[in-house]
Amino acid sequence: MSERSYDVVLYGASGFVGKQTVQYFANHTAPEQVRWAIAGRNRQRLEAVRDEVGVTVDVLVADSQDQQEIDAIVAQTRVILTTAGPFALYGNALVDACVRFKTHYVDITGETPWVRALIDRHHEQAATDGTRIIPCCGFDSVPSDLGTYLIVRRSQELGIPCKQVKAYFQAAGGFNGGTLASAFNLYDSQGLAQMNEPFLLNPIGNHTQAELDRNRDPQLPSFDPDLNAWIAPFFMGAVNTRIVRRSAALFEDWQESYGADFTYQEYLKVEEPLAGLKAAGMTAGLALFIGAVQQPQVRSLLQPILPQPGSGPSEQTMNEGWFSCELIGTAGDRHKVRGLIRDQGDPGNRATVKFLCEAALSLALHTVELPGGQTRGGILTPATGLGDVLVQRLRHAGMTVEVEVPTLE
Ligand SMILES: NC(=O)c1ccc[n+]([C@@H]2O[C@H](COP(=O)([O-])OP(=O)(O)OC[C@H]3O[C@@H](n4cnc5c(N)ncnc54)[C@H](OP(=O)(O)O)[C@@H]3O)[C@@H](O)[C@H]2O)c1
Repeated sequence: MSERSYDVVLYGASGFVGKQTVQYFANHTAPEQVRWAIAGRNRQRLEAVRDEVGVTVDVLVADSQDQQEIDAIVAQTRVILTTAGPFALYGNALVDACVRFKTHYVDITGETPWVRALIDRHHEQAATDGTRIIPCCGFDSVPSDLGTYLIVRRSQELGIPCKQVKAYFQAAGGFNGGTLASAFNLYDSQGLAQMNEPFLLNPIGNHTQAELDRNRDPQLPSFDPDLNAWIAPFFMGAVNTRIVRRSAALFEDWQESYGADFTYQEYLKVEEPLAGLKAAGMTAGLALFIGAVQQPQVRSLLQPILPQPGSGPSEQTMNEGWFSCELIGTAGDRHKVRGLIRDQGDPGNRATVKFLCEAALSLALHTVELPGGQTRGGILTPATGLGDVLVQRLRHAGMTVEVEVPTLE
């Protein structure tokens, strides 16, 4: 591995998020610490990004559909970070090559049917070889997955097993054209029904009716007594909950269980005034939008006013955006363990870039400290593949990642 030319290659570096990963690496790494290069399908666009950011790094060119070109890049690096999405369209050759060349991998997909296909195709081989393939290292699903991991482990340290974690999101920011393109591709490939399966990303097995009922996605707004606030279904919940459940299942297999019958759910937190009314409006609005964009006629009407691939929010919107993920774990019968992950900056861009780049740097710079030691591999999750190493790096990068110890009587 150390004979490879690069520690990290940033693939998709000319995209809207990709450019920001180049800026992040330029600002946060030193050349003597990390050997990195940028890559994508179009040399001119990549060189323009390199010059705009003002870094001296190699530019590597490979179309995502050309397996030989992709192999040539993957063979030269220890870690691939990719932002080229829709991942179901541009990610397959890259992951196939990472598994063959034993190159660690991180991305920011939220396309869970595609992740399911990766598990079926590659989990066993990557696990045997100790290759860490870690999708969903952006805003979906790092706060959900790492936050739950921290709450559960803190409860276990206190000797009171955690039965349930709930996460409550608030966020302000904009939408990328690339994100909408990925969502539309998913709808068009009939992925929605699959996305609704609560255990889509778990190892194949049977789940009892009671388990399925306990893990259904929330459909309606309600008042949450633990949070003392109104809540509504969170639009990323169908992605994040599947990742957290995969983490729980993998930990279970490795005898590092979260606990019997552990459950995880997440919600949007709605602020007063008129919180109940707003929660109802948001729930109806989300259902309406998802229903509408699945209709080709409605979509073609909306298309011209929606952001296109390659575009996204303004610098001002990205800088002024923020997110907060409050977590409440129920430990034993009475104790509540509380957590908070929060940061300034648009979640789909600033936070996603921080999560993703720090995930790649965790793989590149902390090989020995990674959870499970150097042999752990497979189609992993942020918690199972990066765990405390990523937590520490995010804190060091200025993100609030806290767990509050409850007072025990
Ligand atoms: N997890 C999260 O929270 C989160 C947040 C934001 C975005 N995302 C996801 O990240 C992805 C990218 O978003 P974005 O806003 O950056 O989109 P974007 O600006 O449209 O970027 C797409 C990238 O894919 C590249 N690409 C397109 N066709 C290709 C091909 N045949 N071979 C190689 N590369 C190709 C593009 O290259 P060119 O520059 O040459 O066109 C570009 O670099 C999307 O899937 C989105 O859903 C996730």
